[in-house]
Amino acid sequence: VSGRIKSSGSEMITLYQILFLFILTYCYKVNVYPFLYKNKFCFLYCLRNLDRHEEMEELAAKFLGVESAMAFGMGFATNSMNIPALTGKGCLILSDELNHASLVLGARLSGSTIRVFKHNNMQSLEKMLRDAIVHGQPRTHRPWKKILILVEGIYSMEGSIVRLPEVIALKKRYRAYLYLDEAHSIGALGPGGRGVVDYFGLDPRDVDVMMGTFTKSFGAAGGYIGGRRELTEYLRSHSHSAVYAASMSPPVVEQIIASMKCIMGEDGTTLGRDRVQQLAENTLYFRRRLTEMGFIIYGNNDSPVVPMMLYMPAKIGAFGREMLKRNIGVVVVGFPATPIIESRARFCISAAHTKDMLDTALSVISEVGDLLQIKYSRHKRLIYDQIQD
Ligand SMILES: Cc1ncc(COP(=O)(O)O)c(C=O)c1O
Repeated sequence: VSGRIKSSGSEMITLYQILFLFILTYCYKVNVYPFLYKNKFCFLYCLRNLDRHEEMEELAAKFLGVESAMAFGMGFATNSMNIPALTGKGCLILSDELNHASLVLGARLSGSTIRVFKHNNMQSLEKMLRDAIVHGQPRTHRPWKKILILVEGIYSMEGSIVRLPEVIALKKRYRAYLYLDEAHSIGALGPGGRGVVDYFGLDPRDVDVMMGTFTKSFGAAGGYIGGRRELTEYLRSHSHSAVYAASMSPPVVEQIIASMKCIMGEDGTTLGRDRVQQLAENTLYFRRRLTEMGFIIYGNNDSPVVPMMLYMPAKIGAFGREMLKRNIGVVVVGFPATPIIESRARFCISAAHTKDMLDTALSVISEVGDLLQIKYSRHKRLIYDQIQD
């Protein structure tokens, strides 16, 4: 479990796992396995919160730099069940057009009016905010009870990082609330791995609802909501996913505590910090090499999610198969997850990829790229230099 897997007897480099830091096996050996052994492997289901759940939530609040945090058994349900607890009829949700299905479902279930702004486009968001304030609700023109902006930290199909400083400035100017889903950015961005707020050096208190999942960088399962104490206390009694669902499984809690302490350096090692740094270096290297080879890649330079454009739907299967033949596992994506002529391969870089692995993968990508004629960029090096400037 280190950026490679064994498949049908041969070893394959994986460029699709979203376990950015790859501290899963380490934490599992050190914490989770002894825990399971001590409890005779029979402690998987848990109806209510135990002391360890509370400890985990306190640790999550400390990690995020917020007053309070609470955890849920499933990341998808964290969005789809908590957004309806926060907004309802008479409220307006402004949602990025590329938001994840769990955010979209949560917004729809809430019964709020939903308006969709262009991806990461601040003019589009500001226009909608201004219109909402000027015109109020349709027909009655009463002011909206609440305006909630829904965004993600890193968009998983685009590799783009949310323009958080501008979003925060807008939400303050128009007195809206901000809900930030850090599923892909928590643990993967920022000098301390604390997500997009850390990356931009912002104050976590400027984000009203900090949401994220434990499935990616933490190698566990479930989701969290962080923010002011009133927020989490309210959700504990009003959210369907808190009131009607079982608590998180205790071994999962152990994994989250272990991986979070590791990233924070509270386990007495520098492993977490080193991995965050390694991930950042791997990301820059991989993106730079792909651009130099003449591929068109999307997203921000610091995003470990790297979409490489294939464009034509017919190239999707061919690229995936040719890579697999050469022992590299990749994810390829097409319609309806992307527009029909924007098919792509989505690479996920991790801290566990060594330079050798990345070089092997890059030379295979280059070979397959020539074979399928997908080195579409005419500028190659030039583009990268411009990005760097
Ligand atoms: C942005 C975003 N939010 C929420 C989720 C749901 O999280 P989980 O898979 O942990 O249920 C995902 C899953 O990929 C996601 O990408």
